[in-house]
Amino acid sequence: MPERRYTQVIGAATAADFAAEVRAGLAKPQKELPSKYLYDEVGSALFEVICALPEYGLFRAEARLLRLYAADIVAELSSPVIVAELGSGSGKKTRYLLEELARRQPVTYYPIDISRAALARCALELGQIDCVSVVGFERAYLDGLLEVAARRRPGEQLAVLFLGSTIGNFDRPAGEAFLRQVRRILAPGDALILATDLEQPVHELLLAYDDPLGVTAAFNLNLLARVNRELGGDFVLSQFRHLARWDEDERRIEMHLVSTAEQTVAVAAAGLTASFKKEETIWTESSHKYNAAEVQGMAERTGFRCRAQWVDSEWPYAQNLFIAE
Ligand SMILES: C[S@@+](CC[C@H](N)C(=O)[O-])C[C@H]1O[C@@H](n2cnc3c(N)ncnc32)[C@H](O)[C@@H]1O
Repeated sequence: MPERRYTQVIGAATAADFAAEVRAGLAKPQKELPSKYLYDEVGSALFEVICALPEYGLFRAEARLLRLYAADIVAELSSPVIVAELGSGSGKKTRYLLEELARRQPVTYYPIDISRAALARCALELGQIDCVSVVGFERAYLDGLLEVAARRRPGEQLAVLFLGSTIGNFDRPAGEAFLRQVRRILAPGDALILATDLEQPVHELLLAYDDPLGVTAAFNLNLLARVNRELGGDFVLSQFRHLARWDEDERRIEMHLVSTAEQTVAVAAAGLTASFKKEETIWTESSHKYNAAEVQGMAERTGFRCRAQWVDSEWPYAQNLFIAE
């Protein structure tokens, strides 16, 4: 049985990277801040609360699929297998798969996340499962995956989880480019378990990203608070409001922060002063939505075959099993 251990490899973005991306993002005609910076300690904690909200049906859909079909998914994996998870967050739903796998063999599970707080929560959440060894990497997705691939032993299958429909944070061409990069790190026969939130009435989707309690608004605004904390920014949070909107052409929810006044903001560590017109927005996250057939095409175009697809009966959401060709 493998020992239970938990390692953090420090390799996350530095303050200099953060400052450079803030400078570049706020200089664009449509101001932007990268969504990966939503997840500091506060942001990761708020995301956990979002997952508990009734409006955020994605989380429960995925939990249902993994609980109901864990045995079917595991039956499709080879033995021995090691498991890596891209953007694991707290890994709460991953428990169903790991428990099922651990009935068959001891498992090493490698969560990869840029949020140290998320990895710490993941270690607490999953570190006590019998026969499961958790080795976390505080890394960007592909850097972490390269580390894991370098650790695999001959004959082991690598199963990569990319849950939460986090693929939807990439626009469609970038998402496929990302899947191609993942495929390059894998060997033929390796598995990618990819979750995709599917299209449904816009009203339901908007509520999932703009809940009445205002948790998602706080999650979004925390990005400006983080710039203030870590980069010496002087954003006045009460002068920005959260906005979630649906882009019909791109089939995505966009989250923005809207400036409620004409104002100027300075960010000391980024050497930046940014001017905002009233109602001007900062685009902070996209969540693209898919249809089931489209996901099968994504597999074919990126070097995989979609071997199976499980769709939730309550919230349109698909868990897809891709096998590397
Ligand atoms: C939408 S949350 C999903 C968490 C979890 N997989 C779930 O399904 O509930 C995205 C997670 O990916 C992490 N993340 C975002 N961008 C990342 C990147 N470039 N590299 C590694 N992790 C990233 C965030 O810190 C966050 O924990």
